[in-house]
Amino acid sequence: MIYAKITGWGKALPPASISNDEMSTIVDTTDEWITTRTGIRARRVSHVSTAELATIASKQALACADVSGEDIDLVLLATCTPSTMVANTASLVQKNIGATGAAACDTNAACSGFLYALQNATAQIQSGMIKKAVVVAAERMTWYINWAKRDSAVLFGDGAGAVVLEASSEPSGLLGTKTGCDTEDRDILHIANYGTDLNKYEAVGPSDLLFEGREIFKRAVTGMSLACDDVMDKAKLNLDDIDALIPHQANLRIIQAIQKKLDIEDEKVIVNIDKYGNTSAATIAIALCEAVEQGMIKPHANIMSAAFGAGLTWAASYIKWGERITPLATSDYTFTPCEQSGLELVQDAVTACKNNS
Ligand code: ACO
Repeated sequence: MIYAKITGWGKALPPASISNDEMSTIVDTTDEWITTRTGIRARRVSHVSTAELATIASKQALACADVSGEDIDLVLLATCTPSTMVANTASLVQKNIGATGAAACDTNAACSGFLYALQNATAQIQSGMIKKAVVVAAERMTWYINWAKRDSAVLFGDGAGAVVLEASSEPSGLLGTKTGCDTEDRDILHIANYGTDLNKYEAVGPSDLLFEGREIFKRAVTGMSLACDDVMDKAKLNLDDIDALIPHQANLRIIQAIQKKLDIEDEKVIVNIDKYGNTSAATIAIALCEAVEQGMIKPHANIMSAAFGAGLTWAASYIKWGERITPLATSDYTFTPCEQSGLELVQDAVTACKNNS
């Protein structure tokens, strides 16, 4: 049996950020409202493209695995905020990391994208089609934000996370997975004015992320818990076997509700929404990387992960960590210096959105 072991991990978190107090200078909100309703205290704003975020995270992951880009067979980029649609953004990441022999493809399953891509790359390795893959999730959610609307403006941030997968005989990597999509409810979370349904000859104004927060909240809790139960059942895992839970970071109260349903102890639940907000497909990839770096993932740990996003896509994954929890090497490749604050970076977009509202 061939497995797809995770041998490298990396992340890219842009240096500029916007705190809740700073957010309250843009929209009519307060630190108290955002913190108590969502658990978010700050979010990062990228001064570089989605492709560059993905490149930084992927280079770190490759160094961590001590694998050269030339040895990679597949680059899968999970994103709903691609730098470019044609050519796909993964092709630029492939070029940037020197993976010239690799296939390169974007995956859009919104917030579930990283787990969808992980499943896809793992299946290709397990089938023997390929031997090594980079799975990277990168998002520039602040690009989509309508800064005139407080309900969505406060929720999202930018960032990227990546893993390297290698064929191995050791039972590790993605050992259990379930993905799905509740398409009947696809309209409760969408961006209305984006894509080829638009009349491109009419002025369309700022893109607008529209959602029914309370409905999504309920469905996210039920959907992610049921998917976890199903994966754990098939993998014959008991609650005691789970060492870490890495849920999609959309709302701290959603995370706590899933934790309660699954009955998992606080110290096993990985949470970083306070620092980064919702980075869509990237939340789980960033949280996984950070959890390893912070010593929260031990050798051979059993990790459960679950995601929920537009579509409405959903996914749950059982990941078995390997022996190694330290990088084999590190990459010097990082962000270009950013001279602007988070507020300065979004200033033009804020003005444009307010003029349009
Ligand atoms: N600051 C202050 N007040 C606000 C803000 C804000 N940023 N946003 C909304 N409000 C107000 C509303 O206008 C409303 O006021 P009203 O009672 O006078 O009408 C009040 O707060 C309550 O609004 P609700 O939308 O009912 O607040 P809720 O408690 O449901 O929290 C939230 C909203 C945080 C979006 C929550 O529903 C949620 O997390 N939902 C799930 C996650 C989600 O939908 N994320 C976006 C999609 S992406 C994904 O990852 C799935």
